[in-house]
This record gives sequence, C-alpha cells and structure tokens, in this order.
Amino acid sequence: MNKAFYLETFGCQMNVVDSEQIVALLNDIGYSQVDSAEQADLVLLNTCSVRDKAERKVYGHLGRFKPIKDKRPELIIGVGGCVAQQEGEKMLEKVPYLNLVFGTHNIHCLPELVQQAEQSRQRGCETDFQDRETRLNLFPERTFQETVTRFVTVMQGCDNFCSYCIVPHVRGREISRPSQEIIAEVQGLVAQGAREITLLGQNVNSYNMKDDEDVSFAQLLRQVNAIDGLQRLRFATSHPKDLTDELIDCFGSLDKLCKHIHLPFQSGSDRILKLMNRGYTRDEYLDKVERLKKVCPDVRLTTDVIVGFPGENEDDFQATLDLVEQVGYADAFTFLYSPRVETAAAKMVDDQSAMQKQQRFDRLLKLQQQTSATIWQADAGQELSVLVEGESRQGDGQMFGRTTWNRIVNFSGSIELIGQIVTVRITKVFRNSHLGELV
Ligand code: SAH
Ligand code: SF4
Ligand code: F3S
Repeated sequence: MNKAFYLETFGCQMNVVDSEQIVALLNDIGYSQVDSAEQADLVLLNTCSVRDKAERKVYGHLGRFKPIKDKRPELIIGVGGCVAQQEGEKMLEKVPYLNLVFGTHNIHCLPELVQQAEQSRQRGCETDFQDRETRLNLFPERTFQETVTRFVTVMQGCDNFCSYCIVPHVRGREISRPSQEIIAEVQGLVAQGAREITLLGQNVNSYNMKDDEDVSFAQLLRQVNAIDGLQRLRFATSHPKDLTDELIDCFGSLDKLCKHIHLPFQSGSDRILKLMNRGYTRDEYLDKVERLKKVCPDVRLTTDVIVGFPGENEDDFQATLDLVEQVGYADAFTFLYSPRVETAAAKMVDDQSAMQKQQRFDRLLKLQQQTSATIWQADAGQELSVLVEGESRQGDGQMFGRTTWNRIVNFSGSIELIGQIVTVRITKVFRNSHLGELV
C-alpha cells in the first residue's frame, strides 16, 4: 500500500514550514514523497498569491499535470496555500481535473480530503478560517530532518493591512504562540541536529505585541540564544514599525544572533508610505537603521521595495533611490506593484504608465546591483566564519555554508564539517555567492 505524493512549494518561508507539516501528515496516511509528478498518486501545489505573476504560475503548473491525469485518471491533484485560500471553490470550477483545495488554516484537513478523493472521487474544498485557540492547537508536528538550519514559526497572520497586500486576507489575523512551546520546539530541533534556527512570522517582531501576558520578542530571542547546542539565531521578516530599542539592543548583546536583518521599507517617500498604510515615516525608518548600525557596526541589511505604487511620481521614486543609497543594502528584493483583489490600493487612481514604472524599476535595480557588488566585494580576501550546511550542488567535494550575513560560501571540504562553524578565506565573489578556501 505504498502510495507516493509530489509536492511543489511556492512563496515565502511560511509556505516552506507549512509544506513540512503537509509532508508529516501525508506520511501518517501512508504516502511517501517522490520528486516527480509522473511517479505520484497525489500531486500538491502549495501556492502564493502575493503578486499576480505568482498566482498565474499556479494555473500554469496545474496545466502541466493535465496530460498525466489524462493518462492516469486516478491521480489526485490538490492545491493549498494562499491562492487556494483566496480562490476556494472557484478553483474547482476553473480547473475541472482538480480534486481538492485547502486553505491556509486547513492543512489539518488534508488527510481527510485525500481519503475522500481516494475512496469516492469526491471533490473537496476547505477554506474556513479557524479561531485563535484552534490555530494554536494546530501547530505542526513536522517531519524529522537531519538538517543544520530549521525554521520555527513564532507568529502567524497579519493585522497590518498595508494597502497593496493580500497577506492579511489570505492568512487571517495575527496570533503568537506561547513562548514555552517555541523554546521546547527549538530544543527538540537542536536535539535532532539543527545548529541554526530562524524564527519566523509574517511580521516576526510583532510577536506578542497584541498580548502582553507572555514575553516580548526581544525576551524570546534572549531565551532562544541561551539554548545549549544552538550556534546561530536569525529571524524574519521584521516590520519597521515594531522594531523596538529592546530588539535593536539584541544585535549588540546576543552572541548567537546573526548580524543580518531583513527590514522591508517598501518606499522612501512619506506620501507613498502613508498611502501604503505602513505605519512609519522615512525618518523613523532611517532612525532605526542608524541605531542598529550604532549597536552593531558590521550589521548588514536587506530589504523589499515596491516600484510603481498607484500615483508614485518621479519625486517619490527619487526618495526611494535616495533611501537605498543612504542605507546601503547588501541585497534588495525589488517588486513592480501588482494590484491584488480586495486590497485598498487596487481601487486607487494610478496615473503612471507601465513604461515609466518599468524604467524606474530598472534604475532601482541598477543602483542596487552596484551597491550589492560593492558590499559583497569587500569580503574578498577576508577570513569569515561559515556554518557548514551540506554538500554543494556542484558536487566534487565542494561544501557550502553561510556567513553571519546569510551569504552562501562554497569551498572544498569534507562532510564531517557539516554542522560546524569553520573559517573560510574568501577567494572569489560572484553575484549570489562566494567561493573560498578552508583556513
Ligand atoms: N510582512 C512582510 C512582507 C510580506 S510580502 C513585510 O511587511 O515586510 C513580501 C513582499 O512582497 C513585501 O515586502 C512587498 O515588497 C511585496 N509585495 C506585497 N504585495 C505586493 C504587491 N501587491 N505588489 C508588489 N509587491 C508586493
Ligand atoms: Fe503585507 Fe503589510 Fe502585512 Fe507585510 S505587514 S504581510 S506587507 S499587510
Ligand atoms: Fe505568498 Fe502567502 Fe507567503 S501570499 S508571500 S505564500 S503568505
């Protein structure tokens, strides 16, 4: 009775963690994971709807499975994640060969949906949001993995309703997990071999801001930092408005906390930030960055930026370029604004042409590429600490790991080094990774 499933995951780290839970649940009902849809009895997509392109991809991918289903009608095809949450029953209508749809609060329904499809070919859809208590009880039992780096969800959902963003609509309201559970989970993962933990949340640093009975996010970091056997600690993604002084100070005091923060600013223009409903001004953002750099002079920042928000004019865009120049991000994810259903920005007047937007996007990208190159080039010749994660994809005795700044480093070494922090001299700087040699 050995059945096989194939799973593809899109979108952010939330989906990556959800997929780990999906794997665990499917293993429990006798399915093991395979790496091609052709071999599978069950095919699942865990989807993202943050931009239109991501959403369209889902339908494109489903189309790829159609010929397989034509040949093997008993194949079960399912969609979960944010597109599933948003579209619900409509997906079953649009895609006649789709068997099941499950939303972001319904991963626990998956075994039942699959069994229904197996037994009666019944098509199922579960996308109801769950209340806080239910969600807190549904926190993952995940698969055992002997990997050096693991994610741990500390909060889920988002209450911020930035005017462009679909996430609050598809992930529901913010909830924070009890700190004792998080600590216990980290201890468990470290016992399984994890050496680096990334605490995860849509706005991870908003942890417990709605509820002051439990610890603050900074206190949580201090508790995780104290766990024996853990070597490194990261967290993502941070919302600038909730970046407290207490949290900034952690970058100066916690030995395991990596010197990297992903701090999306979205726009450098106060007018646009207000229209975006971001809850901070340009100066407030820059103030926090300055304090971070003071507490931890070698901290490196990465960010997200949106170009082409409705009504963003040349002055607004120039303010974004200036901010990028002033902060000096090691990397930036730059996005062209994409209107999303149900969001406030989708109804705003947009008088800028697609060509203008694209030209601005290209200017920003060029500036960022130059900045990134300068920052990463500075690592050449340096001896850096690298936490070794595994063998490189290139093979031939190449290992890879990351620096404190989350930069991938490839170097010649042996598998015994996995899980250790080693010193590597950087010999060559590529666009997305470093090459080095063991010291
Ligand atoms: N919670 C995080 C972001 C999650 S979404 C935060 O607030 O920083 C990841 C990124 O996608 C956002 O930072 C934003 O830059 C981008 N994004 C979200 N909605 C978008 C849209 N409608 N169009 C273009 N980019 C978008
Ligand atoms: Fe979206 Fe804003 Fe929430 Fe981030 S904070 S997930 S951008 S609504
Ligand atoms: Fe995408 Fe959903 Fe994450 S929309 S970015 S997968 S929360």
